[in-house]
Amino acid sequence: MQLKLFYAIGLASLLILLNSCYYDKFNEIHPLDGYKNPCDSTADSTYTHSIRYIMSYNCTSCHNSSTASGNITLDSYEAVVEQTKNGNLMGCVQHENGYTAMPLGAKIPDCQIEKLQQWVNANYPK
Ligand code: HEC
Repeated sequence: MQLKLFYAIGLASLLILLNSCYYDKFNEIHPLDGYKNPCDSTADSTYTHSIRYIMSYNCTSCHNSSTASGNITLDSYEAVVEQTKNGNLMGCVQHENGYTAMPLGAKIPDCQIEKLQQWVNANYPK
């Protein structure tokens, strides 16, 4: 009986601990103000609410003004619109033939690709 209680308390505190670690780390990695989960389906697919977070989460470490891999920056609205309008960005994140798969060696989650597609369809809302 006492052992069971011990396990229950142990499990509960482990869960709480894991949960808080997850959020701590999340904010540490994404120090942007008001960071939102890019896959939050309640967030609008606007640059301000979604797209810039998807970029900073996956892309801007290599595509910023001091490190512009492939001569491409993705840390401003104008730059992301430009790379999306010319078809490169969606081709790269969807790993289409003829495009360099991005981010290098990985694929972003489908829900983020969907957010990007919604943004394109809505004509790049700020
Ligand atoms: C680890 C570094 C790194 C990350 C992260 C990264 N890129 Fe790149 N990206 C590169 C490099 C290097 C090139 C140049 C590749 C080349 O010229 O073959 C490039 C090229 C590109 C190009 C031009 C493609 C082409 O065919 O020339 C686009 C568009 C692009 N990246 C978009 C993105 C997007 C969108 C993300 C995030 C989803 C991303 N990148 C994440 C390193 C990165």
